[in-house]
Amino acid sequence: MSRRNTRMYSANRFKLGLFALNCSGGLTMTKAPERWQASWDNNVKAAHLADESGLEFLLPVGRWHGYRGETDTEGTSFETLTWASGLLSATREVCVFGTLHIAFVNPVFAAKQIVTADHIGKGRFGLNIVSGWNIGEFEMFGIPFKEHNRRYAYTEEWLNIVKRIWSEHEPFDVQGENFKLKGVEGKPKPYYDSYPVLVSAGNSAEGRAFAVRNADCLFTSIAKRETLADEIAVIRSTPRPTAEPATIYASGHLICRPTRKEADEYYHYIVYDMGDWEAAEHAAEIRTKGRATRIAALQTLKERLISGLGTYPVVGSYDDVVETFKWLSEAGVNGMAIGLVNYITDFPALRDEVLPRMARLGLRQAH
Ligand SMILES: Cc1cc2nc3c(=O)[nH]c(=O)nc-3n(C[C@H](O)[C@H](O)[C@H](O)COP(=O)(O)O)c2cc1C
Repeated sequence: MSRRNTRMYSANRFKLGLFALNCSGGLTMTKAPERWQASWDNNVKAAHLADESGLEFLLPVGRWHGYRGETDTEGTSFETLTWASGLLSATREVCVFGTLHIAFVNPVFAAKQIVTADHIGKGRFGLNIVSGWNIGEFEMFGIPFKEHNRRYAYTEEWLNIVKRIWSEHEPFDVQGENFKLKGVEGKPKPYYDSYPVLVSAGNSAEGRAFAVRNADCLFTSIAKRETLADEIAVIRSTPRPTAEPATIYASGHLICRPTRKEADEYYHYIVYDMGDWEAAEHAAEIRTKGRATRIAALQTLKERLISGLGTYPVVGSYDDVVETFKWLSEAGVNGMAIGLVNYITDFPALRDEVLPRMARLGLRQAH
């Protein structure tokens, strides 16, 4: 057995995972009563559904401040390494990620914490590396918010230390720009003779290049259909230290119903009838960091924040949704981390309608 036998390396052409289920509301800023309650029991139920249906992964959001408004979307969230360890213990095959804000955790501590989760999951743990964007969260930790590319340089230094702890057998010293460490060591090593799956989530050119250079997978946002092919070409042409190409995952928000009309109506209800526009206002403000943004663009941004926190809206009939996945796959995207309004009650449509259609198109094997 090796890590290659875990689901992240399955033969499925378009891999799928649940995203943000550790946070209240998940990816949806809505007051609708069926919105996601991120209790532990609900997380375990959703994890079982994903595990039993053959989904590849569960990806939590590392969040320290909520988005305020009436619902304070993501304001209640489980710490993700602890969350992953619990879910790895409760599941059999699905891979579970922890999401770390690199600046908030010492690499020696994190290396051991990650290895512990990896052993609990018998090699099914993965790390989502977040270099950070939310200034308020840095202020809460009392940690300086470095300039954009210096944040990635810091992450690179941090990650190289962690990789050495995972692979080297003699104590070593570090004389880096950010870390001066003596006699560094750590046991046990990762569960398999390879690093846990490393993903880095970023949208900027530097963020994407960082992922290609340092991680196995890039998780990124797709803005629109028209530019995707060019964006993928840029990512694929970025030099990479290993021969194996990086895998690229998108993030999306899934609303599917038997017909497109029903899906559109439900989307309208979530966003316009029940949307938490006050939370969206706050989220838009901290995301645009006060930059002048055209009113129309701001309105689109808020709508996208309510349905999916800025991820790609996958809204339509079951057939529409599968067409979107097919298009992404053909464009070179290897999979998607998806949010659902409610990860339990919306799951049967994904399992019973979407996955079989994907199997018929060859995007996934029947499970
Ligand atoms: C799929 C995906 C998942 C992300 N998860 C988190 C997260 O859990 N916590 C967080 O603070 N930022 C998260 N981010 C934000 C990124 O880590 C990154 O900080 C942000 O995209 C800004 O980086 P950039 O300037 O390189 O785009 C995520 C981004 C993407 C695309």
